[in-house]
Amino acid sequence: MIRGLCAGICLLVLGAFAADDAMAQDSVKVGLIMPLTGQLGAVGKQLVAGARLYVEQHGTAVAGRNLELIVKDDGGSAENSKRIAQELLVNDKASFIGAGLTPSALSIAPIATQAKAPEVVMISGTSIVTERSPYIVRTSFTLAQSSVILADWAAKNGSRKVVSLVSDWAPGIDAENFFKDRFVRGGGEIIESIRVPLANPDFAPFLQRARDARPDTLFVFVPAGQAGTFAKQYIERGLHTAGIKLIGPGDLTDDDALGGMDDGMIGTVTALNYSASHPSAMNEAYVAAFKRANGFRPGFISVGGYDGMHLIYSALKKTNGSTDGDALVAAMKGMAWESPRGPISIDPETRDIVQNIYIRRVEKKNGELYNTEFATFEAVKDPGQTAKP
Ligand code: PHB
Repeated sequence: MIRGLCAGICLLVLGAFAADDAMAQDSVKVGLIMPLTGQLGAVGKQLVAGARLYVEQHGTAVAGRNLELIVKDDGGSAENSKRIAQELLVNDKASFIGAGLTPSALSIAPIATQAKAPEVVMISGTSIVTERSPYIVRTSFTLAQSSVILADWAAKNGSRKVVSLVSDWAPGIDAENFFKDRFVRGGGEIIESIRVPLANPDFAPFLQRARDARPDTLFVFVPAGQAGTFAKQYIERGLHTAGIKLIGPGDLTDDDALGGMDDGMIGTVTALNYSASHPSAMNEAYVAAFKRANGFRPGFISVGGYDGMHLIYSALKKTNGSTDGDALVAAMKGMAWESPRGPISIDPETRDIVQNIYIRRVEKKNGELYNTEFATFEAVKDPGQTAKP
């Protein structure tokens, strides 16, 4: 009888080990659906580089589970993103989706809701996005955050007559509207609003129109990925010597492209959540590790991926490895941590990012152009939203 009892206990113990083992083997899948090719391919590459760096630095063992990162290219097409999200959630049993550009993040929203899976929005900067699903949490930024801060700064620093020139899609319309509303309240005037098509933009005729309107300041939003093209055409047309101040959300002087821009961009003032020259020990280490791994400078898009992975890791730790979507989103609400961009948190009401917005000026340091931060606005919430569940 004693032998039998012993054997029983042994089986139980073995069983427990086997279950533990199965748990460790049982992967938690995170599917990133990003634009790695197409017009905004450079944006997706920055994002994925940031996400991969986080995984390399922190390992794949999280709360007793093995985290598996699956990266898919949607080519920047929302139709593709939607199909890939369905495949990842249904076939691969992914527990998290990392979403990219605004149209893609929007197209995934109903699928995330149906699957009750967290959709961590890592690129999109359009305010409305987080309202489209209670499972969306954003780690990127909003155009409203930077445009409102910049409008106040411009009104207080001598800008009176502004031409606004934005890329004609949702984040551009947000930039135009939020800047305009705030700038006019500050006593300024928008003398012309110009929208440039997103696909294959030729900025030259629009820049001519802007110049002909004789503003004192030109406010520009182009998405990261088009900043280099914009700067080239701006300088080729001699706008940097036309006596017009150039300002905009910091996408305009994205660190990813800034190193390749002409010195004519020196003096451009922008507002954004991240600069590669942000002075903190954590950021210095981030920039060094990122450059070592990728051979290029991290831009603001990359921190959306790095912090997106931090959010996923931390939520899993809080749920002890459970992948219940409601528990994970509850764990993410109110989470606060230190990022290479500075202190950040997730607004528990809106599930949106709360972060510092910095005003920066393009300067040359050691032979390279950088965005030097000279004013900080702390813990900025997205001004574009109302509270939601
Ligand atoms: C967006 O998808 O909303 C987006 C992409 C790139 C940017 C800004 C916004 O630079």
